[in-house]
Amino acid sequence: MRKKIIAGNWKMNQTPQEAQALCALLKDRVDGAEADVVFCVPYVDLYPVLDALKDTQIAVGAENMHYEDSGAFTGEISANMLKEMGVTYVILGHSERRQYFNETDETVNRKVKKALDSGLIPILCCGETLEQREAGITVEWVRMQIKCGLLGVDAQQAKSVVIAYEPIWAIGTGKTATAQQAQEVCAAIRQVLAELYGQETADAIRIQYGGSVNGKNAPQLFAMADIDGGLVGGASLKEEFAEIVHYKKDMIE
Ligand code: PGA
Repeated sequence: MRKKIIAGNWKMNQTPQEAQALCALLKDRVDGAEADVVFCVPYVDLYPVLDALKDTQIAVGAENMHYEDSGAFTGEISANMLKEMGVTYVILGHSERRQYFNETDETVNRKVKKALDSGLIPILCCGETLEQREAGITVEWVRMQIKCGLLGVDAQQAKSVVIAYEPIWAIGTGKTATAQQAQEVCAAIRQVLAELYGQETADAIRIQYGGSVNGKNAPQLFAMADIDGGLVGGASLKEEFAEIVHYKKDMIE
């Protein structure tokens, strides 16, 4: 049985002071969650958030990192820097980074390998545009993103990777994929993982759905066979995030 993992992706929101206030609002409310819970936050919020969450079950993640250990990369942050701070997870290849910051499958793959070698758990994002969905190439596209993202990653390492399937048309739009649409692609992702690593490894890897997850739709999405939790943007900045982490299957309407 895979343990669910529910991660907030704060994106470029929350000053350090606001971050502390949000942690204060959420930490008791999240307490007792059966799922693994992660707050992925801007770099400058990492210290205050690590401090605010130190006696809780909530883990902390970054939203990006560089693939080199150190050097002349002005403005960048390395895996070792994150690791030393006490960060556990790192989101890699989010569609916003692919769209606005020239992230490619190749750089994402380098980052995934560096994160794993450094002892960080990558949350590897994939997902199709609306145009791709309408052209009927969603599964092919996502399969390729997964294969490229995990190139050179062995089965042992792959087991710790978290995959986040986020249809781009569902991110921040209020348009959630239906539970069936999300399940279909997550099942296809598990299938490609089985082709790469064998069924046992594929069955151990957690696959999240992301894209307008909220307190209402979470129970239905998380009840699907191949959906092992969520990557939550907008709703991770509100009290509603606590509802999402305490989703219950018996709340399904
Ligand atoms: P959203 O963002 O929940 O606001 O749609 C999800 C994400 O981009 O990770």
